[in-house]
Amino acid sequence: MAGSTQELEKPEQALELTPIKRPAKIVIDQLGKVYRGEKKETVALQNINLTIYENEFICVVGPSGCGKTTLLNVIGGLEYATSGSVYVDGESVIGPGKERGVVFQQYALFPWKTVIENVEFGLKLAGLDKKTRRTKAEKYVEWVGLKDFMHAYPKELSGGMKQRVAIARAYAVEPKVLLLDEPFGALDAQTRAQLQEDLIQTWEKEKRTCFFITHDVEEAVLLANRVVVMKANPGEIKEMIDITLPYPRNQLTKLEDSFIQLKNEVWKKVYGNEKTNND
Ligand SMILES: Nc1ncnc2c1ncn2[C@@H]1O[C@H](COP(=O)(O)OP(=O)(O)OP(=O)(O)O)[C@@H](O)[C@H]1O
Ligand SMILES: [Mg+2]
Repeated sequence: MAGSTQELEKPEQALELTPIKRPAKIVIDQLGKVYRGEKKETVALQNINLTIYENEFICVVGPSGCGKTTLLNVIGGLEYATSGSVYVDGESVIGPGKERGVVFQQYALFPWKTVIENVEFGLKLAGLDKKTRRTKAEKYVEWVGLKDFMHAYPKELSGGMKQRVAIARAYAVEPKVLLLDEPFGALDAQTRAQLQEDLIQTWEKEKRTCFFITHDVEEAVLLANRVVVMKANPGEIKEMIDITLPYPRNQLTKLEDSFIQLKNEVWKKVYGNEKTNND
């Protein structure tokens, strides 16, 4: 549950309150979001309190419509909250920033730009000069295994390849926080497994703070330090579960008893005692 200690957490207090001596990277404080249409109001988020520590890998799971994307968009500064605040490094979020990279579910590539140009685009926005842009973009295109497709256009790529470009584009800016909205949702199982492993390996090496949304409980348990379970109507945090499995993790981790036990535990929290037609 979003327990009582959560309610006390403010950016300046978060360090004292947590037994883990790690700095708070993102503090979500009493966050609410109401969409007001002409005929109806939707409470997409209500009373969200969450502190995400530096280098944590958080996975968010929950039924369709529980506010996962809304939460990510508010952290990313792409949407505004109707109450409460989000702080990154103690600074209130008032819009997008280059310290927060976003990967959307549907690639969001420019069809008229090549792979390398798509990756360079974010670097241009970050104000890097042309030569540095090209060097960095090449490094990340290679890292996602698309060296041979550097000058291809998105329409020439498979879904998995497009998603690799989207990930390279977010990583190339070297943001301290990565916000990923079901990035592997549309991929086949094999590509998905490969990208999961790539993501874990990079995270282990570079230790960024990841906020990763998924519908897939197994994926959440494989990747996360901590799984946040949300519920819908209104969108609230229902549970938080520490995933204590050691890293490095890979596809074989899924076969271990401790993994299966945690997966079942999270699954019950997501689907247990909830009569829903959503999933
Ligand atoms: N722009 C909008 N205008 C009005 N209502 C919206 C808007 N965006 C989202 N909503 C509503 O807010 C609620 C949360 O939506 P959101 O997209 O955050 O859910 P989600 O958990 O990401 O769902 P999914 O798993 O299907 O992606 C839903 O009830 C949705 O209908
Ligand atoms: Mg969503």
